[in-house]
Amino acid sequence: VKIDGPLYSGKAKDVLLTDDPEIVAVRFRDDITAGDGEKKDTLEMKGYYNSVISAKIFEVLEEAGVPTQYLELREPGCILARKLEMIPIEVITRNIAAGSIVRRFPFTEGQEFIPPLIQMDYKSDEHGDPMLNDDIILALGIATRDELEEIRRITLQINSVLRDFLKSRGLILPDFKLEFGRDSGGRIRLGDEVSPDTCRLWDMETGEPLDKDIFRRGEEGVVGAYRRVARMILDDEDIE
Ligand code: C5P
Repeated sequence: VKIDGPLYSGKAKDVLLTDDPEIVAVRFRDDITAGDGEKKDTLEMKGYYNSVISAKIFEVLEEAGVPTQYLELREPGCILARKLEMIPIEVITRNIAAGSIVRRFPFTEGQEFIPPLIQMDYKSDEHGDPMLNDDIILALGIATRDELEEIRRITLQINSVLRDFLKSRGLILPDFKLEFGRDSGGRIRLGDEVSPDTCRLWDMETGEPLDKDIFRRGEEGVVGAYRRVARMILDDEDIE
């Protein structure tokens, strides 16, 4: 397909139209933000690493039978994807307590959640991404009861596939965020990205974070950590 003009720009990616109305191109930029965009930077190669990491994870998920929007890695930094009508919900799955859940509720950092917790936040900068419940989702009209059930089912499947895959690559998955949308046939599919920007990923040997938490804490070495994740996930030590 031929890539045309922009459809919209997010905080770290651009979505572009193509000459196929069912297909979009997603460009991963080097921009990184935290705290609803309060903290910002541009880190060379970040977009490249996230694109190859996300592409590999979507391939693993597709292979396990998870419906996603992913079609192909067109070139490093750019993927082709099925166009979806996105549902403005951030679906957060937690296997280990970390981050905001520990600040907002009396959980202990590092405590395991068995079974895993699924939390849904309203994707709205204007409203500060507030936590949702089923009644609020239905009243807002952003998803139906059947769609919510399907999103929960796919999310738990993704958690199980992803945990096993990452474990085999030496990584622990404390939590991660997913976004879903409807394809042209109305089917729910995983969209957006799965990367160190959207997952907590801890080195199994050392326990050190290899994800956006490094940036959130204002520490050095963000790009080095993302490179390490790319090498581990792609099982390729030659990635530069
Ligand atoms: O901030 P919090 O601890 O709730 O984040 C839980 C998980 O969801 C983390 O892996 C984080 O990277 C991800 N997340 C995200 N986008 C957001 C909020 C959280 O990717 N807007």
